[in-house]
Amino acid sequence: MRDRIQEIILAAAAKARAETSDEPEAAFTGTPEFPIECKVGRGLEGAVAAITKVGYVNGQRGWLVYRGIDIFDLAAYSSYEETTYLLLFGGLPTKSQLAEFKQQLVANRELPPYIYEVLRKMPIRETHPMSALRTAVSLLGNFEPKSEDTSVANETRISIQLIAQIPTIVSAIARLRQGKDPLPPNPELGHAANLVRQMLGGEPNELIDRLMDVALILHADHGMNASTFTTMVVNSSLSDMHGSVVAGIASLKGPLHGGANERVLYDLEEIGTVESVEPWFAKARDTKRKVMGFGHRVYKAYDPRARILGPLAELLVEHKPEEARLYRVATKLEQVVCGELGDKQIFPNVDFYAGFAYRAMGVETQMMTPIFAVSRVAGWTARALEYLQDNRIYRPRAAYTGPIHVDYQPIDKR
Ligand code: CMC
Repeated sequence: MRDRIQEIILAAAAKARAETSDEPEAAFTGTPEFPIECKVGRGLEGAVAAITKVGYVNGQRGWLVYRGIDIFDLAAYSSYEETTYLLLFGGLPTKSQLAEFKQQLVANRELPPYIYEVLRKMPIRETHPMSALRTAVSLLGNFEPKSEDTSVANETRISIQLIAQIPTIVSAIARLRQGKDPLPPNPELGHAANLVRQMLGGEPNELIDRLMDVALILHADHGMNASTFTTMVVNSSLSDMHGSVVAGIASLKGPLHGGANERVLYDLEEIGTVESVEPWFAKARDTKRKVMGFGHRVYKAYDPRARILGPLAELLVEHKPEEARLYRVATKLEQVVCGELGDKQIFPNVDFYAGFAYRAMGVETQMMTPIFAVSRVAGWTARALEYLQDNRIYRPRAAYTGPIHVDYQPIDKR
């Protein structure tokens, strides 16, 4: 099964390489000197907010690298643990480094009992799981005796702890929402397989476990996206890593960002049939409704992560008629949106097929964005730690358009 998954990823890579150039885009590479001249659009479009070696998104060509390594190669050959090591420490680990890192993650998976108590006391079915996750990570910070130590060494230690603990929190939330008891982490299983078993129970399944591993690799880092930038902004005030990650979670939750994966499924269910795609899209276009899972601030070409997740989602739905029906709706929607909005360079993004894949694995729809967080905490922390090494507090300006001199009116004269 591993081989089949690898074949699919390598086929997607070959297609991408045939369609896109190998050259970096003209801007956003190299070492600029501050102050940097850049054209800034609304929503900080085009602004250079950091100099980094962690990863690079080539939006014009549609490719993504972590520390210079192509995402297709990482998806085909790496594991989430190895990819996370790469992001955090700058290079691929040796065998012994990887074994030690995996051991550190396994050793840190457990949660203080109080976290379970609080999750159990929450109205867990009515609370969005991203909000529950945000609260739990914040509480975890209260158990950290050295949270005020913002040295790189201490924040690295806390980052590794968070990368290990967030899957346990997410799994506990998933189980409690179903009225089931949380399952303990299994030290025999790798990061992805343990997440799947803790969330869904049952026996290890090679296909699902490896697909989860690939999905986690694909979501681990993605330039200065909103949640990464948010994490970095909070960390730049020398706050603390738990607080910074809490802010990242809050940002990721939004439907314009990580929350889109959940919304894609609501859209597909609303559409329902292949025949309804065109009228549904026509109405969406007329009412200026954004189609979830499409478009990107940086990609003006097909998102390489969607190139991988699309065919992998198809593999997952092979023997599931209900999921296969929705998958056909999804591919039809892709065809219609890309056809109609092609001039705006709108393609599926990572969220379009990700939610779909998780659903085919048996994950509840609202748990999809938390799985994104399980992965992205690697990118958040890697970039926050990199920035911390040459930290300067983020503090941009706003252009003021209000009046400059207004007399203060006493309250009884207003
Ligand atoms: N459906 C329909 N039209 C779209 C879409 C879409 N999903 N995305 C962009 N457009 C149009 C938009 O209406 C605008 O048209 P016009 O120039 O005529 O006004 C043009 O494309 C440029 O869009 P924009 O809103 O200026 O783009 P942005 O860079 O500000 O926003 C985005 C990027 C991802 C928030 C947006 O594309 C969107 O809302 N997509 C749907 C939500 C989504 O899938 N989010 C996940 C993003 S990727 C992974 C992640 O971060 O989690």
